[in-house]
Amino acid sequence: MSAPATGPQMKKGFTHKFDAKKHDFKFLTQEDANHFLEKGYVVVRGGIPEDHLKMAKETVWVRLGMDEHDKNTWTREEIHMPRHKMWNAKDFAPKVYGAMCELMGGEDRVDRKTASWGDSFICNLGNPEYNPNEVIDPRDLGPWHVDGDWFRHFLDGENQALECLVLYSDVEERAGPTYIATDGIAKVAKWLLEHPEGSEDMCEPEGSGNRVVPGFVRECKDFVTLTGKTGDVFLCHFLTPHSRSRNHIRNSRFIINPFVSFNEPQQLKRENPDDYSLIELKTLHDLDCDWIDFKPARERYHFLPRTKAKKDALIQEELQRLKEWETKTGKRYESMHEKGVVYWQAPIMGLAEV
Ligand SMILES: [Fe+2]
Repeated sequence: MSAPATGPQMKKGFTHKFDAKKHDFKFLTQEDANHFLEKGYVVVRGGIPEDHLKMAKETVWVRLGMDEHDKNTWTREEIHMPRHKMWNAKDFAPKVYGAMCELMGGEDRVDRKTASWGDSFICNLGNPEYNPNEVIDPRDLGPWHVDGDWFRHFLDGENQALECLVLYSDVEERAGPTYIATDGIAKVAKWLLEHPEGSEDMCEPEGSGNRVVPGFVRECKDFVTLTGKTGDVFLCHFLTPHSRSRNHIRNSRFIINPFVSFNEPQQLKRENPDDYSLIELKTLHDLDCDWIDFKPARERYHFLPRTKAKKDALIQEELQRLKEWETKTGKRYESMHEKGVVYWQAPIMGLAEV
């Protein structure tokens, strides 16, 4: 055991073995568990049922005000659409929910209300000015980050357990797949270990705008593109650096990027090693420790997401288009915002109503 002059006590050297059988896994295999410990993510192929995908995507082009078959109407490159509908992952995607629970150490550790996902698609439609043959080094992609613009980040945080990435369209290489840097998890974890006061913006110093994650990614070597078929789901460790990429070939790309929270802060020092979640073990693995007695030096804190105002502005635009579509087709689209904008994040994120 080592006890540095400052910082938490820890036991150096990661020796834990994870046995999927002992944990009675039903959704993930031993290989999945090993892969998560090594690379920090698992893939649930075909995790979202067909009928849900069809229903959720039926009105997406109406909402965008664009023609799926006419790229001249694709006048915006990346659109973060607002959420009109939400569904519990447990109900509509039981395979994915099961895998999430297994990564998080059991269903009783999952904050169930956060496992509600919606139709807040992130579209990447490319740009006609991009050279389809251009090759970009992933380190130069630019917007590398870890998610979470509504809470103070800590190494043992409960707010974001997994970075979930759900494909609502086929996503090919060069068509704007999300990139992850699997060897970046260790670097982000080390930084948060050295910053027990936590961080609201992942900048050094806080508020400076000097984001630390792109700097870590400069030193990374193991990049993965999250490509796949419609309905595939990637569940990544919460400290996984990721970035969007250019959609060079302009296949329309739709994903959602929901989070899921733990009920309680994580514990990086547990009496019984069998009680560690795979997520906690991955953090310990990448810091090469058997346990860390981590204690936050500031209080845990939630705040209004930075993207909220932008998305709220799109709600009215989309509702107008949907109304016209309803009149034209005789169909019905039920939005939670029909009687005024609903601040759905408040109860889920534990934020005050505004
Ligand atoms: Fe992100």
